[in-house]
Formats: sequence, structure tokens, C-alpha cells
Amino acid sequence: MEVSFKHVTLTYDNGVEVLHDMDFVIPDGQLVALLGPSGGGKSTTLNLISGLLHATTGEIDFDDVNVTDKDALQRGVGMVFQNYALYPHMTVLENIAFPLKMAKVSKAERNARAAELAKLVRIDDQLNKKPAALSGGQQQRVAIARALAKNPSILLLDEPLSNLDARLRVEMREEIRRIQQETGITTIFVTHDQSEAMHVADKIMVLQDGRIQQYAAPQDLYSNPANRFVARFIGEPVINEIEAESVKDLLKLPASAKYVGIRPEAILAHSGRNKKVPVKITNVSSFGRDRNILMEFNGTELVSTNELDFEVGKNEHVNFDLRGVFVFDEDGNRLEGLAK
Ligand SMILES: Nc1ncnc2c1ncn2[C@@H]1O[C@H](COP(=O)(O)OP(=O)(O)O)[C@@H](O)[C@H]1O
Ligand SMILES: [Mg+2]
Repeated sequence: MEVSFKHVTLTYDNGVEVLHDMDFVIPDGQLVALLGPSGGGKSTTLNLISGLLHATTGEIDFDDVNVTDKDALQRGVGMVFQNYALYPHMTVLENIAFPLKMAKVSKAERNARAAELAKLVRIDDQLNKKPAALSGGQQQRVAIARALAKNPSILLLDEPLSNLDARLRVEMREEIRRIQQETGITTIFVTHDQSEAMHVADKIMVLQDGRIQQYAAPQDLYSNPANRFVARFIGEPVINEIEAESVKDLLKLPASAKYVGIRPEAILAHSGRNKKVPVKITNVSSFGRDRNILMEFNGTELVSTNELDFEVGKNEHVNFDLRGVFVFDEDGNRLEGLAK
């Protein structure tokens, strides 16, 4: 199912407009992540898709059907929240089958469907246990199976992994990706964790202050950020940032340039006829296979993730690979026209 928002806004009862002119299409069969800091409007957007909230202005379509005025039940979406809210007195099988019981599906039929879904989410060896006897990851598998019970056209997940520890979070994000690919269901996944979004999504919508900052494939967000906010939000280590003023002799910048962002892998050892950037090496830190080289340039600390053969305390020269250099104006808008 394709989801489209046409100039949608949402004003809560207190009169504050929290979503502004949301205009986008979520393609059928894809996994799209809504990514952004807390308060950015992710849950509000998801609740507008589910029908738990109604657009103040604008239109929402599922494929060619205008669902703007339809309620949650009529829209037929499946939802999973951060607190899985499983029924504690029911077994795994009963939890998964419950939406079908409510829909008056026969016992034999709903148990067969629940068993099939349990297999899909790989919880079929726990069917007779109560939720309290399951780990957090297993509970979340049950919640996903339950959300899929009625064959929804869209699966909505609101920070489904936030309550899990780091290792389980990585395992479960792969599982969500696998389940989405096996079922082919259009899935919208809310997270504030950029690396989670980068790993699972076909496309990422970056939201801040109720506005879409950029909506693109993960790699595009990284290599072609639309603005300073996206450049800083995506990427680990965080993009280096220098005041334009301090690199104006090294780079040919547009007149209104204020900030220059440099990806950590775009700081290279000086070579050829490139303009030399003088730095002092301040620290080298290693974590497993990763090595970060910290250096000072004109009072600003920069990090490079390249294997530079530099020693701490030495003055060295680097240069910038312009494919990883982005220029922004005072308001954080991206500027074109960067040259050597
Ligand atoms: N029921 C509500 N009434 C009024 N304001 C709300 C309500 N729910 C959320 N908000 C506000 O809407 C904005 C977006 O919230 P939300 O969609 O929950 O963000 P996110 O899920 O990205 O953290 C925030 O400023 C939040 O305070
Ligand atoms: Mg939220």
C-alpha cells in the first residue's frame, strides 16, 4: 500500500500546530524510517497514518483511496509501540490470535494463522508461555506477530526497540528488516537512532520541529545532506564543523558561507598539489578495528577516520576530499559552488 500526505498539518487541542505542510509519498512495499530528535513530530505523523489522529488540514491517501476522514479501524493498519502491551494473562499463541478473536474468526482458523505468524517471527517454540516468561526481544516478536494477525496493509512501528539493550537492538532491527522483506508489507519505522534508521530503511524521512528536513535513501542523506541539521544528525563520528571564516584561504567558498562541514573520512594526508591544511595531531584513539585521529586546526578539533601515519604532538599537513565537504549559510541551508 502506498501512503501519501498532501499538504497535511496537525494542530493539537491546545492550538499549537506541530506538523507543518507535510507532503510526501511512502512507496508500496518499502521500509521507511521516520528519524529525528524527540519532539520532532514522528509519533504524530505515525498516528496520522494509523487514524488515531486526524489531519487538521490536507489529505491522506492509501493508494488511490482518500482515507483522511476514516478512523483507525477502517484503515486496517498494524501497530507496534515501544511498550509492547501484551496481555499478561494470555499465552503467546492467544496474544497473537487475539485480534482475530475480536474479529470473530473461528478458533481453528485463528490458531492456525497465529502459529504461522509465530513461525514468521521465530517465536514458535514459545507458544504456550506467558509474556512474563519471555525476554524483551521475544516479547517484541510477539507484538509484531500480533500486529500482523489481521493482514494489515501497512505496519507501523513506533520506537519498537528503545526498551531493548544495545546488542538485542541490533539483532531485532535485522529481524524487522527480514520480516518486512519476507512479507513485503509497507512498513513505517520510527526511531531517534540514526544508525538504526541507516541500517534498516529503504528511505529515511528526517523530521525536526514538525518539518521534513530531507527524505531520501540512507546513503544520500550521508553523502548529500540537504542542510546543516541533516549533516550533523547523520553519521558517526559526527561531521566535523569549521567556521567558514577560518578556511576562506584554503577553500573557495560562496559569499554567504558560514559553516563548513567535513566528513571524518574526507580528511586525508596531504598529497599532490592540493592546498596544505596545517594541523597539530592531538590524540589517536582505537576501538577494535576503528581508529580515530584527532587534530587541531585553527583552534577547532577535527577527527579523521583514515589510517593516517601521524604521531601525537606532531605538526602535519592534511587536505580535504571535497566529496565530503559541505557548505552552509547562517541559517544552516546548504550552499552550492564549493571549489578549490
Ligand atoms: N497530545 C498532545 N497535545 C499537545 N501537544 C502534543 C501532544 N502530543 C505531542 N505534542 C507535541 O507535538 C510535538 C511532536 O511530538 P511527537 O510527535 O510526539 O514527537 P516525537 O515522536 O518525534 O518525539 C512535540 O512538541 C510535542 O510536545
Ligand atoms: Mg514519539
